Amino acid sequence: MNATSNGNLPKVTSSSLLAMKARQEKFTALTAYDYPLARILDEAGIDVLLVGDSIGMTRLGYTSTIPVTIEEILIHLQAVHRAVRRGLLVADMPYGSYHVSNRKAIKNALCLVKEGGAEAIKIEGGSKRAKLVSRLVQAEIPVMGHIGLTPQSIHVLGGYKVQGRDAASAERLLEDARQIEQAGAFSLVLEGIPSDLAREITQALSIPTIGIGAGASCDGQILVTDDLLGISFLTKPKFVRQYANLKELISNAVGRYRADCLTGEFPNESESYSGESKANLKAFTRKA
Ligand code: KIV
Repeated sequence: MNATSNGNLPKVTSSSLLAMKARQEKFTALTAYDYPLARILDEAGIDVLLVGDSIGMTRLGYTSTIPVTIEEILIHLQAVHRAVRRGLLVADMPYGSYHVSNRKAIKNALCLVKEGGAEAIKIEGGSKRAKLVSRLVQAEIPVMGHIGLTPQSIHVLGGYKVQGRDAASAERLLEDARQIEQAGAFSLVLEGIPSDLAREITQALSIPTIGIGAGASCDGQILVTDDLLGISFLTKPKFVRQYANLKELISNAVGRYRADCLTGEFPNESESYSGESKANLKAFTRKA
């Protein structure tokens, strides 16, 4: 497979990820928030596309993920859904969308599935979410769990701190992971935990783990795409590997455009219309 085509790779589903875990095959996940980037990621063969609530900080300018609403997730999910053919499309349940009652949580999750095209949803939290996970699974909604450094809990955690560093909290996280698996989740994100704990959890579970700041032993890896592409204004955590510098590329391109406009270099004759109306009509036709 080349870097820009997923060829004829089969559609990824929650069950195919479980089968990959059984075969000890690694997989990839990234966040996606809009049509063009989602299409590029999907065509590049990324297995899981997450419309994450990280959008609040990366794209909406919030200082945390706390303010993100179900409506904001929904509109971006719909755009990503229009782009994705192969990858598994997962939608994040934002803070407040599953905290009032299990009934309200199921209603919100159903909305992401029915109106947004999500094929699975992700919720943050360990043992205390087990009952909700099992209710969602009963409603035919595949659930991805998320434990460790859960950004929606920053006020309780006291900031963005690595979790599970001492024996007691590591034991609690292992128990959280077991309970989320028992409740029926098909996968589990491990965020901001020591690599050896992530390895232990990965070995203890039969569902795949997806690491972010959790070392190389997880079954899959996920990053915030904007971090990977260098288009974020947020500080770069230690675990991010930046593969491109789009901020610099964009700034450079926009600077050249500005200079060309100011000198009259743009637009030139071939970028302008003549008076022939037929040619004008043709030139305006744009196809996806
Ligand atoms: O919202 C998000 O992008 C996430 C991933 C980083 C796991 O939760």
